[in-house]
Amino acid sequence: MGKDISMSSDVAIVGAGITKFGKRHDVTYRELLAEAAAEAIATVDEIRPSDIEGLYVSASMPELTVDQAHVGNLAAQELGITPKIVSRIEMACSSGSTAVRNAWAAIKSGLIDTAIIVGLEKMTHNPQMANKGLCIVPDVEYESINGITAYSGFALAARKHMQEYGTTREQLSLVAVKNHSNAAKNEKAQFHSMGEITLEKAMNARMVSDPLNLFDCSPITDGGAAVILTRGDIAKEFTDQPIWIRGSGQSIEPSLGISNIRSITEWHALKKAAKQAYEMANVKPSDIDVAETHDCFTIAEIIEYEDLGFTKKGTGGKFIEDGESRLDGSLPVNTSGGLKAKGHPIGATGLAQIAEITSQLRGQAGKRQVDDAKIGLTHNLAGFATHHVVHILSNEAR
Ligand code: COA
Repeated sequence: MGKDISMSSDVAIVGAGITKFGKRHDVTYRELLAEAAAEAIATVDEIRPSDIEGLYVSASMPELTVDQAHVGNLAAQELGITPKIVSRIEMACSSGSTAVRNAWAAIKSGLIDTAIIVGLEKMTHNPQMANKGLCIVPDVEYESINGITAYSGFALAARKHMQEYGTTREQLSLVAVKNHSNAAKNEKAQFHSMGEITLEKAMNARMVSDPLNLFDCSPITDGGAAVILTRGDIAKEFTDQPIWIRGSGQSIEPSLGISNIRSITEWHALKKAAKQAYEMANVKPSDIDVAETHDCFTIAEIIEYEDLGFTKKGTGGKFIEDGESRLDGSLPVNTSGGLKAKGHPIGATGLAQIAEITSQLRGQAGKRQVDDAKIGLTHNLAGFATHHVVHILSNEAR
């Protein structure tokens, strides 16, 4: 049996930040990478290049969109560092949180003390290749080739959830209305300047894959994010406000595409990842004050309310309808605007979620601050909900 790493001291987040998300034609890929790292470094009191012993780069498709491979070395060059561990992580949409979990494990093991995790994607200048990058995530040989894409796969989940639990078209749109309202309070969000949207606008948008319309989808985005982790006992050398990683969970369905999943409306792998994280952190879903969950499509956020245990199975639609996940609700979800309205630059997404919860737990979230937030959760998925990573963060040490 392996060593129980949950028993050793917690790892702390000492820095986290994101770039402006959206169309970033003003920067090259490497400039975006450097900008993301600088945003996180700016939130640390002091850090020297020699302090950074681990470098993790979360990038899903640079080979396709910017004709560049080997981006781990690119990051070391741009940051001017010579870490002991360097790794590029590709786990599609969940690359960012997977990279954080790998860095967390390396610090827990004692191999390194401090790591920076940088994630990014540059997609909007080359939508054809960005779409190709998204379409090769499912099973290309058996599914994508026959028209099963992210939209149509999640559309099937939406239709089935409607049929099984009575979830309504309006409830899907309420997720979009909430997340756009939060993005209107987040200057870094892709759709910040769009402002609030009405329920009518969200419900009547052009169809993408029935029943999902434009406002049920996350957009194509350029953006970067970064997180700096260190050993808990030296965290105060870097910041007065460390945020503690109290729980980390990961689980996968043994399935590349949609056809081998047990259920498309009940995500067993998510329940497993969440259980690991809750147990490690010794908290319950009702202890969570604020969460960032993977709303790649509005239906995903509704299923996540259920499978993260925020509400009973089948009542996710009612949870949004009752306003529970709004900024003024009992458990605010996606205060950043989420993937839906903050944007979804694939490699950056998991890190951006952690950056949002870090700023919430530090009381630095400005107009979207949740009162007295002490415990936060992040959830990042990939594929047809076939891979999940859940982290539980706290502003209080164990
Ligand atoms: N929500 C709201 N508005 C959106 C939007 C979205 N998701 N995507 C694009 N728009 C807006 C744009 O801002 C643009 O407005 P403008 O003309 O005022 O600037 C307009 O719609 C047209 O944008 P365009 O990029 O040409 O739209 P499109 O039809 O090519 O793409 C989608 C729309 C939904 C198909 C595209 O955003 C997409 O592929 N999203 C899903 C990405 C994905 O699958 N990610 C992985 C998830 S697992």
